Amino acid sequence: MTYSSLIVERLKNVVLITLNRPDALNALNNQMMDELSIVLNDCETDDDVRVIILTGGEKAFAAGADIKEIADKEYLEFYKDDFIEKKWEAVNRCRKPVIAAVGGYALGGGCELAMMCDFIIAADNAKFGQPEINIGVIPGAGGTQRLTRLIGKSKAMDMILTGRMMDAEEAERSGLVSRVVPIETLKDEAIKVAEKIATMSLPTTMLAKECVNEAYESALDAGVRFERRIFQSLFGTQDQKEGMSAFIEKRSADFKHK
Ligand code: CAA
Repeated sequence: MTYSSLIVERLKNVVLITLNRPDALNALNNQMMDELSIVLNDCETDDDVRVIILTGGEKAFAAGADIKEIADKEYLEFYKDDFIEKKWEAVNRCRKPVIAAVGGYALGGGCELAMMCDFIIAADNAKFGQPEINIGVIPGAGGTQRLTRLIGKSKAMDMILTGRMMDAEEAERSGLVSRVVPIETLKDEAIKVAEKIATMSLPTTMLAKECVNEAYESALDAGVRFERRIFQSLFGTQDQKEGMSAFIEKRSADFKHK
């Protein structure tokens, strides 16, 4: 299938999705988010897809929601369309690992989209920000919540109230991104990381992701109990038997994703 706002490439068990509206700095319009939710849904149901990478261009990962598309909207229209929730949150709902590879601007909805992914690899030219305050609104795709959890209240307030940008170095120092790489190697590095994850047992990576996310949803006691049950349940998989046998027999594991 071809898409008008995305480039979708299949690299064995990894799907690389590139946001592709360079003339608008990948501003996230309805068409693009429609396509993104369709691709993610397909990835979810395709057993051979084990990891997804979401990336953009060198100048922009995404400069936010498409301001030209939303400028004239009214409240009830947004509400009835379930703007953001219905399509954008497909990233957050995806149960397989999703890596954001961010080069250039990740602003507003672009920063929020990256934060919906499981972790962010940033290029050294990346710039993150929630500049909505400059245009008379606030973040609407989770920015006030996810950014605050990731970098803490003080920095989140600073970013959201002033609309300032944060460079890659500050983003790594603040815990927003997991690593910073040169822009020239961003895609290759992200693919390398994705391929590494794709060698693991898929149900195990999915459950690991669910457990880490539970840390945001529950009190420590409940989260630890949740993790323990998942850990115990993995002893019902063939991959656990294979992984542990392989270690004892000093060979590489050959996971069957079962
Ligand atoms: N929506 C629509 N079009 C956008 C856009 C956006 N978010 N960001 C950039 N563009 C368009 C520009 O209008 C311009 O188009 P034209 O050539 O047709 O004029 C093109 O992309 C290039 O942009 P600039 O000329 O502005 O490029 P620059 O290098 O001078 O500046 C920038 C780059 C600092 C990122 C600047 O484009 C900018 O500030 N963009 C808007 C960022 C923003 O406010 N994002 C938040 C959007 S609201 C939101 O996201 C809500 C939410 O939480 C969901």
